[in-house]
Amino acid sequence: MADDLLKKIIAHSKEYGFIFPSSEIYDGLSAVYDYGQNGAELKKNIKEYWWQSMVQLHSNIVGLDAAIFMHPKVWEASGHVGAFNDPLIDNKDSKKRYRADVLIEEFRAKYEAKIDNEVKKAKKKFGDSFDTEQFFKTNPNVLRNQNKIDKLNERFVKALNDNDLEELRQIIIDNEIACPESGSKNWTEVRQFNLMFNTKLGSVSDSANTIYLRPETAQGIFVNYLNVQKTGRMKIPFGIAQIGKAFRNEIVARQFIFRMREFEQMEMQFFVRPGEEMKWYEYWKEFRIKWHKNLELGNDKYKTHDHDKLAHYANAAVDIEFDFPMGFKEVEGIHSRTNFDLSRHQEFSGKKLQYFDPELNESYVPYVVETSIGLDRMFMTILSAAYKEEVVGDNGETRIVLSIPPALAPFKIAILPLVKKDGLSEVAQKIFDKLRLHFNVMYEEKDSIGKRYRRQDAIGTPYCITIDHQTIEDNAVTLRHRDTMEQERISIDDLIKTVEEKVSMVKLLEGLI
Ligand code: GAP
Repeated sequence: MADDLLKKIIAHSKEYGFIFPSSEIYDGLSAVYDYGQNGAELKKNIKEYWWQSMVQLHSNIVGLDAAIFMHPKVWEASGHVGAFNDPLIDNKDSKKRYRADVLIEEFRAKYEAKIDNEVKKAKKKFGDSFDTEQFFKTNPNVLRNQNKIDKLNERFVKALNDNDLEELRQIIIDNEIACPESGSKNWTEVRQFNLMFNTKLGSVSDSANTIYLRPETAQGIFVNYLNVQKTGRMKIPFGIAQIGKAFRNEIVARQFIFRMREFEQMEMQFFVRPGEEMKWYEYWKEFRIKWHKNLELGNDKYKTHDHDKLAHYANAAVDIEFDFPMGFKEVEGIHSRTNFDLSRHQEFSGKKLQYFDPELNESYVPYVVETSIGLDRMFMTILSAAYKEEVVGDNGETRIVLSIPPALAPFKIAILPLVKKDGLSEVAQKIFDKLRLHFNVMYEEKDSIGKRYRRQDAIGTPYCITIDHQTIEDNAVTLRHRDTMEQERISIDDLIKTVEEKVSMVKLLEGLI
């Protein structure tokens, strides 16, 4: 069922110009995708929502656009050369490769799903009188499954923290976790695998010239933090935001744009006084959850998950998870990164990276709270929530509609003359020329009006307007709403204001303040 939905979303994305496999004419490249004409628009709008909410709405946050290539020492200092590894395991029969930690997490998720199911069933049965807390404490099925999760977690977290690869394998063996492809339990040892891609700079092929494709955008912010602070006269607390490509040689790259080898991140590093990091960690956690919920994709589609194993740089970390077709998975991480990165860059570069705090009259290396969201994963949350198949009308006719939040939709309005003749095209063209100054507008005159509505539904256009013969007499058009399919007659003079009310980024941003 969930698999079905994912397959449908992948097929729809391709058919309607959102996402194509990379180099498709050569049979594609694993875990690399290209965004088509509608995907590029949606992606641009997500970036705009993020950028405006982070930079424009916070006067103490500014932007940055750092290069992908950085000095190789950056990645030694950051710990990525030594520790940016995933534990991989191969199945000897299917020859498929997996992340050992992900196999265990997916196994654990089955118990979590059982608990969720019990809760859903009981909620339905008891209605308003249902007491979730009491149910968790007393229901034998929930208790049994929770006990299994706790036992598994205890071993799993310890193995991760101790970097104990043998124990990770033993957990897989003891729990009889099978290869999802072949069902076989014939596993190799677990090995560490570094996720960074490397290449050579210039023409000399000597190891001194080895550079890396950045696996996160954050380091570009760290090494520039004093440049920005000084030239922007920033006072702590302040933030630097950046959107850009990142690259990881993922062991298992599955599930469409969820786990890619080339992807985009939207990251913000917030520089704070040492000791104040937990206050800001809580602030950013709350703000980022609000940012997601503000899109109205469904409040029950989000969960938070505190990290079992903290990354080498963090003293607190939480994931914001979204209910994707394959279950709840991370879309964004909030990390309290301490002063790890800046201190290490200070040590490795030999340059002072301290901030002079005029209020305290002292210098220190700031602490950092980071918000990091994958643009492609965010794109996938929108597709997952927006994709709907609906029966319309009495004769069983169906439509596929993408209920994309209007401010993010690739096109805001489609202009559809009922017929090409009788001067309707000319009137429609005039309206098109006027509206395109305000919105991304599509003009379509081919095919029946019904077919054109369906095409617009399929790419998520919130409004269609139809120009008919009456338009010439009364200067009005029919405005059709995507989600309800309701139609209303509206004066051409009122169009911009009416549409603007629903599709503007300003309206969306207002929900955040
Ligand atoms: N600077 C911190 C950092 O990079 P992360 O949890 O490794 O933290 C942050 O990544 C976000 O980047 C994730 O929440 C996810 O949305 C996105 N991301 C990470 N790896 C990805 C991949 N292989 N494909 C797509 N998105 C990815």
